[in-house]
Formats: sequence, structure tokens, C-alpha cells
Amino acid sequence: MKYARIIGTGGYLPPNIFTNADWEERVATTDEWIVERTGIKSRHIAGVDETAASMGTIAAQKALESANVAAKDIELILVATGTPDKIFPATACLIQKNLKIPTCIAFDIQAACSGFVYALSIAEQYIKSGTVSKALIVCSELMSRLIDWSDRSTCVLFGDGAGAVILEASSAPGILATGLYADGNYDKLLYVDNQQLRENKNYISKTSHQYLENLHPFIQMQGQRVFKLAVAKLGDLIKDIQLKHKITLEEIDWLIPHQANMRIIQATADKLHLPMEKVICTVETHSNTSSASIPLALDIAVRDGRIKKGQTVLFEAIGGGLTWGFALAKL
Ligand code: ACO
Repeated sequence: MKYARIIGTGGYLPPNIFTNADWEERVATTDEWIVERTGIKSRHIAGVDETAASMGTIAAQKALESANVAAKDIELILVATGTPDKIFPATACLIQKNLKIPTCIAFDIQAACSGFVYALSIAEQYIKSGTVSKALIVCSELMSRLIDWSDRSTCVLFGDGAGAVILEASSAPGILATGLYADGNYDKLLYVDNQQLRENKNYISKTSHQYLENLHPFIQMQGQRVFKLAVAKLGDLIKDIQLKHKITLEEIDWLIPHQANMRIIQATADKLHLPMEKVICTVETHSNTSSASIPLALDIAVRDGRIKKGQTVLFEAIGGGLTWGFALAKL
């Protein structure tokens, strides 16, 4: 049986650190409020010249090095991002160019914070079908460009960064199961409108103007509803993992959840009956980096020696769409 195995990880965090005290100077908030409600103490903010492609390229380079794989051997590049450098070409093509990866399959996916689990599942299909034998997944997010810096209810939650993994075809177990879900009926709970659609308004009939004027170029979020749905949907995932995929909780060595909020992470760990010692948490210093949060946390825990070869890791995420899902992998 052919598996898709994660054989290398990489990450990049912009050097500029923005603390809760920095937010206290900008909006009516306090370190105490942010820590109590979210567990976040600081986040990294990209420099003016940094982009999803530039950050993603660095993370990908590190993943290639750790996997000991040459760029020329990559046959599939998947990039998850909500902040692509361009509407087209895909950020995957820009990273391909930066890394001098020869002609291959390269495209972006949009699944908001669930981007990494979606990308793992897609890459697994390509590898298991024999279409490719080595794949690069990059999740790169510039959330600081999507927030309204004067809206205290959202601005304190997000940060920038990129994470990457290399997958290869293997006869030894790798990805064991994935589950992906989406429900577009929840589209208004968490969204950013496409600002580009505003730009040509002068050429569009007057009746359309009102719609265009109402576009929101920054993150709009119904925080409490998202919170409740996150806890409920991630709870359902756990039933799915146990019943459909016949995986017992004892088989899971580590949980790497999407890092949105410490309270959501704790509630999910409780439902899994996993002690917090088995949960990799980076939300305190990374905040929410959307799709990049899981591969960044994975990279940190692999490099600091917590996650060891042969251990089983459960990744789970929920985000705008709503989209949600999981992937279970033996490393
Ligand atoms: N500092 C101080 N006060 C604030 C801040 C802030 N940064 N933001 C909001 N408040 C105030 C509100 O104005 C409100 O004041 P009021 O009572 O005078 O009206 C009060 O705090 C309570 O606001 P709520 O929105 O009810 O606060 P809540 O306890 O729900 O916490 C939070 C807000 C942290 C956003 C929470 O709802 C949450 O974590 N939701 C999940 C959303 C999330 O994680 N989104 C990330 C993207 S989705 C994802 O990745 C899964």
C-alpha cells in the first residue's frame, strides 16, 4: 500500500514582534483582556517588503533542507493562503520560480484557516494515485494586511508567518486518514471581501455601486458564533475520527490544532480526553496565523525534539467558509 509521508518541515516568522502592550498603545484593549480571552501574548508582523511568496519561499527552503530533497525533485506545489501576492498567477507559481523548481503541478488553495489539512488531503490523493512522488505544501499568511488596525475585536487576534512540509510516496505509513468539510451557509460569520472588485466601480452601472461601497476589505467576524461553532464542529470531527476511521484516542501521540484561541484548543483537547501536555500550542507567541499555524507548530515541535519519528499526530482546523477538517499522520 502506498502512503504519503511527511519527511521534512520548515517555518518562517517575521522578526518584528508585536506584543499586547503594543496593541494597548493603539486600541482600547489590555494585555489582561487579550490573554484571558485568547491566550495570545504576542505575534509576528511582516515587514513592508514581505509577501506570502517571500515568506513561503523561506519556509519551503527550510523544509527541503530538513527533508534532504532537491528542489528539482518536487512534482507538486500546493500553497494555502488568504493573502496571495497576486490574484494570478498563483503564489505556488511564484514560489516555484523562487526555488527554481522545474515544470510541475502548482496551484493555490483557499480554505482559510483549514488550508493545511485541505492541502495535506489533496497532496495525499496525488501521491497515492501515483501521479507524483514528492510534494511541497506551503501555508503563508499576511494576516496583518487583512485586519482593520483600529478594530480591537479582531486586530489583536492575528499574526503573520509561513509553514511548509515535504511529502513523499512511501510504503511505510504516513497519512493515515483525512476528513474535509465545508458549509458555505456560514459565509457571513468570518470573511474578507475582495477589495479588487471595488477598483473598477466607475465603469459599472450606478445600481451596483451600493454593493461595491459595502465591500469589507478587512476581516469581519462574529466572534462568539465562530467560537461556539469551532468547539461544536471540532467535537464532531472527533466522533468522525473514532467511528468512521476506527482510530482510538490511545493511538494519538500529539494533537496539533489550528492556533486560533487557547480556549478553543483546550475545549478540543478536553473532548479528545487528551492532556494539554500532548497538545502543541504556539498561539501565545504566534497568535492566529490562519493556515500557517499548524505547519509552523509542527516545525517547532519536530525541531525541538518533542515530536519524534514514528509518532502519530492529529492535525485539526476550522476557519472561514466555514471549512473544517483533520488529518492523522504517522511521522
Ligand atoms: N479588548 C478589550 N475589550 C474588547 C476587545 C479587546 N481587544 N475586543 C472586544 N472587546 C469588548 C467588546 O466590545 C465587548 O464589550 P461590551 O461588553 O462593552 O460590548 C466585550 O469585550 C465582550 O466582547 P465579546 O465579543 O462578547 O467577547 P468574547 O468573550 O466573545 O471574546 C473573542 C471575543 C476573543 C473574539 C471570542 O469570541 C473568540 O475567541 N471567538 C473565536 C474567534 C476566533 O478565534 N477567530 C479567529 C478566526 S476563526 C478561526 O481561526 C477558528
